[in-house]
Parts: sequence; C-alpha cells; structure tokens
Amino acid sequence: MSSFISLGVNVDHVATVRQARRTTEPDPVIAAALAEQGGADGITFHLREDRRHIQDRDVELFMQTVRVSTNFELACADEVLSICCRLKPDWALLVPESREEVTTEGGLDVASDQGRVRDAVKRIADAGIQTSLFLDPDPRQIDAAAKLGVDAVELHTGPYAIATRDQAASELERLRSVGKQITEYGMRLHAGHGLTYANVRPVAAIDGMRELNIGHSIVSRAVMVGMKEAVAEMRRLLDSASLLNLNK
Ligand code: PXP
Repeated sequence: MSSFISLGVNVDHVATVRQARRTTEPDPVIAAALAEQGGADGITFHLREDRRHIQDRDVELFMQTVRVSTNFELACADEVLSICCRLKPDWALLVPESREEVTTEGGLDVASDQGRVRDAVKRIADAGIQTSLFLDPDPRQIDAAAKLGVDAVELHTGPYAIATRDQAASELERLRSVGKQITEYGMRLHAGHGLTYANVRPVAAIDGMRELNIGHSIVSRAVMVGMKEAVAEMRRLLDSASLLNLNK
C-alpha cells in the first residue's frame, strides 16, 4: 500500500479573519495558491449555509484557480448541494452543520439517517464527484457508510486531539481499528479535525491513511511564518510519519 499521505489544507480560517471585518483581506484564494506552493495536495473549503467564513465568490474562484485537488465541504442541504454539483470539485465532503457550533462538532449520523445523507450522496455521485463522509470512529457508522457506497470516510480526530495524555492512546486505537474497517470495505481512509504540528504524526502513521485535512493549526502557524512555510513544515511531518509506516 502506498505510504504517501495527501495533505489537504483547509483555508476556512483565512476567510474567518476577513469576515471579522467584512472586507477583502486576507483572501483565502491567495492563501490557497500559497498553500499549493508550500506542498498542499488539496484545498478544502466549507461553504456553510450561514456563510460565516467562505463566500460564494471564494468557491467560484477556487474552482478556477486551484490546480491540486479541490475538496468542497458541505451540509446535506439543497442550496449548497446545487452549488457543489454545478462546480464539480474533485471531492464533496458531507458534514453535519448546526448554527450554534463554533466549528463542526461531530460526525454525521449515517446509521440512523432517514434518507437525507443517502439522497445527498446520490446527487453528488450523479454529478460525477467523489464523496467522502465525515464520521466519528464508530463501527456502526462505517457499516452504514459502506452500504451507501461512498468513496472515502474522513474520521473525526477531534476527540483524539483534545484527549488527555492517558486517553490519547485509546482514542488512537479507536482510529486505528475503525481505519482498518474502512480500508477492508475498500473505502479511502481520510482523517481530520484538531490536528496540529504536535499531535499529527501518530495519526499520519495509521496503516492505510491516505489523506489528512488540516486547517486551524496551519493557518495559525501561517500568521507567524507565512502560508508557504507553514504548509511545508506540515508536509515534512507527514513525510516523516510515512517513513515510520514504510519501516514497519
Ligand atoms: N475536517 C472537517 C470535516 C472539518 O469540519 C474541519 C474544520 O473545518 C477540518 C477537517 C479541519 O479541522 P481543523 O481546522 O481543526 O484542522
């Protein structure tokens, strides 16, 4: 199995700074171009229904300018689904959304879904776009995702990221064992949320890991050292974790 892990850089947080003043800077489209220069393999952007950070203009421009993979994160809601299907990114990443949350708080509940996720997956597949579902590391959710025939599952690493040192080992074990279930079903294994320069390597070293989506930590570092350098630093960490995998 290839040990190369794609680094998806989520640029929502650049747009959050811009929207704090409702102005034109910093521009997430320029940030995406710099992230590419730093070694990003993909650009992730979440067009939320409340448009709190990424705007419609941004997604149009990402689609015209990004040369690496485009990963359009969205809720199972008609309006944003229509935009996604029209723009045809490489990937659509379905997530739950609630107005009160500061950021995406948990995975989709596909196991008890009444058809909303299934309908969204069908619309996306019919548009020729690859589908990924953001899920908690729960075997029931993975079984349900496999039944829907999605291309990838992005495991929610938030609980691992906020775990105490004692809990982190068991959270990592959950990610490993559910990761194995995902690859055995033939789906691609992705992960993200709360990953930082300090905690990313054990997740990158999980067997079968194909892609990590990272936003807040990279954008925070970019404020200090610039986007290109911040992405290059993360790229080096992922490469060194892949080497751990090669040596297994
Ligand atoms: N994956 C998903 C589904 C997300 O909603 C987010 C946050 O926007 C991320 C990954 C990236 O998380 P973070 O900003 O904590 O790196």
